[in-house]
Amino acid sequence: MEFKYIQKTPLYKAFSDLGKRILLPDGIFYWSGRAKKEAEIIGTIGTAFGYEKDFIDGGSNEWVPCYLNDIKNYTNINIKQVVPYASIGGLPDTREIWKKWIIRKSEETENDKIARLEKYITKPIITSGVTNGIYLTCAMFLNPGEYIISPNKRWGNYDNIIVKHLGAEIKSFEFFKDNKINLQSLKETIEDVANRQEKIIIILNFPNNPTGYNPTFEEAKDLINLLKDTYYLVKKPMIVIVDDAYGYYVYTDNHLKKSLFYELQQLDEDIIPIKLDGITKELLMYGGRIGFLTIGLKPNWVNNDEELEALKLEINNKLEGMNRSTLSNCNHFYQAITQKLFNEIGVNKIIEAQNKVIELLKIRYEKINSELAKIDNPDVSIDPNSGGFFLFVNLNPDRIKATEFADHLLKKYKVGVIPIEKPYENINGIRIAYCSIDVGQIPELINRINLALKDF
Ligand SMILES: Cc1ncc(COP(=O)(O)O)c(C=O)c1O
Repeated sequence: MEFKYIQKTPLYKAFSDLGKRILLPDGIFYWSGRAKKEAEIIGTIGTAFGYEKDFIDGGSNEWVPCYLNDIKNYTNINIKQVVPYASIGGLPDTREIWKKWIIRKSEETENDKIARLEKYITKPIITSGVTNGIYLTCAMFLNPGEYIISPNKRWGNYDNIIVKHLGAEIKSFEFFKDNKINLQSLKETIEDVANRQEKIIIILNFPNNPTGYNPTFEEAKDLINLLKDTYYLVKKPMIVIVDDAYGYYVYTDNHLKKSLFYELQQLDEDIIPIKLDGITKELLMYGGRIGFLTIGLKPNWVNNDEELEALKLEINNKLEGMNRSTLSNCNHFYQAITQKLFNEIGVNKIIEAQNKVIELLKIRYEKINSELAKIDNPDVSIDPNSGGFFLFVNLNPDRIKATEFADHLLKKYKVGVIPIEKPYENINGIRIAYCSIDVGQIPELINRINLALKDF
């Protein structure tokens, strides 16, 4: 949007720098809006959809957003769990339940590691979805003009939150080299930022949007070692924001299934992980807008348990201050539902229901990758992917402009995808949201993409 008219008004003159900078980028909304009207196969929506019968026992043939069956029990919830304000940091029981859930998801078996995890993480504070968690964390750590490090292939909203909203800067590292995470580029970027400021802030998101990349166990180990080595080189506090929005949607056995948060939390160095997760995708309640922000603490920051508790209270106070001064408190109804799911349905049944959806997506992941592998075209390459909701098809920028390709694909072949074209970041390709495409449609989807490629 050009803001031609608003710029002429006194309203604009009165805007803060933020008011002047902020905007809603039209990329994803433009392409998904067009796909809804023009496409027969829609690969733009970042929400898992399926035929109800494929993930709910006795479900219908209707194509609906995937959900956990038991949600339906709570449309008659007690009014006291709907109407009142929730506490600023979130309902205490919901926070406690999520802390236990985080510990459970670690799948840790070593007792001393479990003990450290239980003791040295903060009680998750409730945010309005992972998006708000990203905003709050970045606002806590970044002054205008300061740098945060992120892969060049990232969720586009990071740019809006960090650059447009906070006036901070993103220093990108090249995400891949030879189909692996490019650790050398990450190391150089950390060193570069260390020369400019007294702290290193990094945001990582696995499985990644838009590529679906998730490290193998080996790569994850190398990544942790690299962070450690670079920490000793630069000797500055390193905050690692771990965006786990798509945590646990992992479709292979040799890729990391649990968050990087856990390994980082066990390190003694001041490599400080902050876990952002939520019910939005993990429990398939996107509109519930409940996220959690949890910080990994280091034992050597305090001298005894009393100091540790005092430190946790102080951190909690800071985070509640962020909540109170922005959105006050988060949706009570969905915090209550989360609590009920865990207390009444139980963790095992929740995992069982989640697994049905993961299985559904896994079949699509396998199908789409095997179909894409049949495309024999030097202008096309697929980024490594093994989880999440999307994958990314790179197009040779000298021959095929991603936006022109997406437009052609939509007009001629009635297929909707999201093009991402950022020449300054070496990105030119299309994101396919296979989370919302039935497996039966995938061969035809790839067939149409292949035909469109031949037109260029
Ligand atoms: C990487 C990433 N993080 C966070 C979010 C937002 O999650 P939420 O709906 O919990 O705000 C998304 C997408 O919606 C995403 O792709």
